[in-house]
Amino acid sequence: MEKYKDKNESLGSRLEDLMSKMTVKDKINQLNQEMTNRYLIDELIEKAMKGIMGSCILADNPFAGSTEYHTMTVKDLNKIQKEAVEKTRLGIPLIFGNDVIHGARTTFPIPLAQAATWDFELIKEAASIMAREANSAGVHWTFAPMLDISRDPRWGRIIESPGEDPFLGAMYAKASVEGIQGDDMSAKGKLAACAKHYIGYGAAEGGRDYNKSEISDYLLKNIYLTAFKAAVDAGIATVMTSFNEISGQPVTSSEYHIRQLLKQELGFEGFVVSDWCSVQKLMNQGVADNEKDCALLAVKAGIDMDMVDRYYDHIEELLSEGKLEMVHVDDAVRRILRIKFMLGLFDNPYFDESESEDYMRESDLLHAKEIAMHSMILLKNEDNLLPLCKQNKVALVGPIVHEKRILLGSWSAGGRPEDVISLYEGIKAMIGEENILTSANPSWYDSIYRAVKNSDVVVVALGEDENLSGEGRCVSSVELPDYQVKFAKIAKELGKKVVSVVFNGRPVSITELMKYSDAVLYSWQPGVMAGAAVAEILFGGFVPCGRLPVTIVRYTGQIPMYYNTPNNSDNRTGYYRELGEHGNYEDVSDAPLFPFGFGLSYTSFEYSDIVCDKTALSLKEINEGNKLTLKIKIKNIGQYDGYETVQCYIRDIVASMCRPLKELKAFQKIWLEAGKEIEIKFEIGRNELAFYNNQGKFVVEPGKFIIEIAKNCVSVDRKIEINVDD
Ligand code: BGC
Repeated sequence: MEKYKDKNESLGSRLEDLMSKMTVKDKINQLNQEMTNRYLIDELIEKAMKGIMGSCILADNPFAGSTEYHTMTVKDLNKIQKEAVEKTRLGIPLIFGNDVIHGARTTFPIPLAQAATWDFELIKEAASIMAREANSAGVHWTFAPMLDISRDPRWGRIIESPGEDPFLGAMYAKASVEGIQGDDMSAKGKLAACAKHYIGYGAAEGGRDYNKSEISDYLLKNIYLTAFKAAVDAGIATVMTSFNEISGQPVTSSEYHIRQLLKQELGFEGFVVSDWCSVQKLMNQGVADNEKDCALLAVKAGIDMDMVDRYYDHIEELLSEGKLEMVHVDDAVRRILRIKFMLGLFDNPYFDESESEDYMRESDLLHAKEIAMHSMILLKNEDNLLPLCKQNKVALVGPIVHEKRILLGSWSAGGRPEDVISLYEGIKAMIGEENILTSANPSWYDSIYRAVKNSDVVVVALGEDENLSGEGRCVSSVELPDYQVKFAKIAKELGKKVVSVVFNGRPVSITELMKYSDAVLYSWQPGVMAGAAVAEILFGGFVPCGRLPVTIVRYTGQIPMYYNTPNNSDNRTGYYRELGEHGNYEDVSDAPLFPFGFGLSYTSFEYSDIVCDKTALSLKEINEGNKLTLKIKIKNIGQYDGYETVQCYIRDIVASMCRPLKELKAFQKIWLEAGKEIEIKFEIGRNELAFYNNQGKFVVEPGKFIIEIAKNCVSVDRKIEINVDD
C-alpha cells in the first residue's frame, strides 16, 4: 500500500487513539457486516444507533448483484450513517459495500470481454467511471475486481473473470484497482476495491460452482496468485475469500492461505472479508460443528470482517474461553478502521445528496461504446465479407435481434434494459430501417425465410440466455444449441452470405455455427452500447481488434483446454495439438477451435527484422536487473488503419520443475495507419524469466529459453533462443 501510505500523517495516531477507547464489544461490532434493503431501513437505523455493525452490504441475498440494484437512496444511507456517527459513543462511521462489477448504471462489457480488449487504459477508465457512478449512488466499497483465473468455460462465473492467463489477469487487476481507487480513495468518485475470490475459486472441479479446487502450491503461486499479487502491489484496500476448499481446507478457514500467504508473504495491509455466508458454510464443508466453531476458525484464519453471518458475536465468548487471542481481534479491527480512515469516512462520512446519481454522461456512453468495440473478436471473415456495405439489404434474424437485458450480462444490477442499444437499433441507426428485414422468432420459419430470401446479406444474432452464465449458473455443455445454429443454417441453405454475431457470457463452442457462417463476430455481452458497437464494426466504422483472453474449445469434452500447459511425458506437447497430429483423444481433434490470443482484423500486419540485442546473459546480470531487448518492425500491409496486438511468449526449456510450453510475458497493442511501419521493443529480464519453484521461491534458473513473437499463442512469427549462463 506504499502508494496510499498514510497521506494524513496523523492517521496512525488517530487510529491508535480510537483503538484505545474501544471496548472489546466495540471492536467485535466493527467486524460485522449486515445486509440491507429498503424494507430494513428502520431496523438498520436502530442497529447503527446501537453501534452493532461496522459495515452494510447493499444486498439482501447472495444474487442481489445480478438481479436488482439496491433501491436505497443516498438519503436513506445517510440517515443510517448519521446514527452511527452521531448517536454512538465513538462515532465510528459505517462502510457501505456493494457489488458493482462492470458498471453501476453505465454498464460496460462483462469483465471477460473487457479482458479481450488487451487494453488496460480502457479498462482503467471504465473502472473509474463505474466508481464515480457508484459513489454518487451511495457506495464506498465495491466487491470488484474478480480475479479468479478461469480455465473451465462450464463455470458460470467465468464471465466475471479476466480469463485463463495469469499475466493478463495481473494487468487486469492493476488497471481495475487504479481505476476504482485512484491515487486517493477518499477523493469524491473513488471507492475501496476488493480483490475476489481469494483463492482458487475459478478452479472449481468440473466447472461446478462452489465446488472444491485441488491446487498445488506450485500452481497456486505461478497461476492463481499472480493477479492477487498484482492487486496487492497496486494497493488494493480489501480482499474477499472464496467459497471453495483447497486440498481439504476451506479457504475461509485457512490460516495458510490468508494469514501466511496473503498477509505475510504478499504483504497485504488492507482487510479481508468473507464471502456471503462463507463463514457459515464451514459447517456445510464439514470443518465446523456450530456457529461458534465457524467464527473461531474464520478469525484465526485471518478473516477480518464477516459478511452477513453475524457469527462474530461469538468472539467475546471465544476470548473468555481462551480459544482466541485479543491480538487477532485487534489486528482485524485496525485493518478495517485503517481503510475507513483512508476512505476519509471519519472526516466526511456522508454521501453528497445535492448532486446524487451522476449517471450516464455522454462521455461515459462513448467510453462504453469504445471499450465494447475493442472487446469484440472477429473470428472468421471469409472473402473479406466484412465490413458490409451500407447500401445492402440486411436480414437481421435470431433470438438476440431485439434483446436488451441479455446484452448487459450478469452482475449488472444497476444496469437498465431500457438504456441498452439493441442490435436492431444499432443497425437501424447505421443503415436506416428501410434496409432491414427482421425475424427474431425461431419458430417462425416463414418469416425467417422471407427476410432472408429478400436480403443481400444475413446477420444472425445469437447468444446464451442470461440465466446460463453468472453465479451458480454452470452448464455441462458449452456448445451453442442447435436451435440457434438453425438460423445460420437456413440462411446458408438459401444461398446467402451469413454474418453471425454471437453474444455470450462464456467462450461458447461454435463449431457447428462456423460451417454456416462466412463471418463471425464474437461480441460477448457488451453492455449498454451493444448494438451501436456491433454496427460500427459490421459496417467498417471500427476495425475489430479484440483478442481471446481464453481458449474456445471445439467440443465440451476437450475441457480442460488452455494454452500454457507443459509438454507431456510422451512428448506430444500440451493440450493444444494441430489437426492430424496424434492427439490425446481418438475421437476428436485436439486443436482448439480458437486459441488464446486469437483475433482477426480487416487489415493485416507483417512482422519483420526481429532482433535481440544479446543471445545470452549471466544469471548474475539478470538478477541485477539487466535485460535483453527485442526489436520488431510491424507494418500495416492492408487497406485499413487498425490496431495490432503483438504478443511475446516465453518457454523455459529445462528447469527444476515442468514449465509450460509457452507463457504470455509481454504484449503491445499498437495503432498503425495503412501502409505505415513502426518498430516496437520488448524488454526481457528477471520478471519474464523467473517462476516460483518447489520451495515457493521466485527464481530464474540458468539454461535455454525460447522467446516467441506471435500473433496469437499458436501463430508464431519468430522464435529466438537465448541462454542464461550460470
Ligand atoms: C458472491 C460474491 C459477492 C457476494 C455479495 C456472493 O455470493 O460470491 O462475489 O460479492 O455474494 O453479493
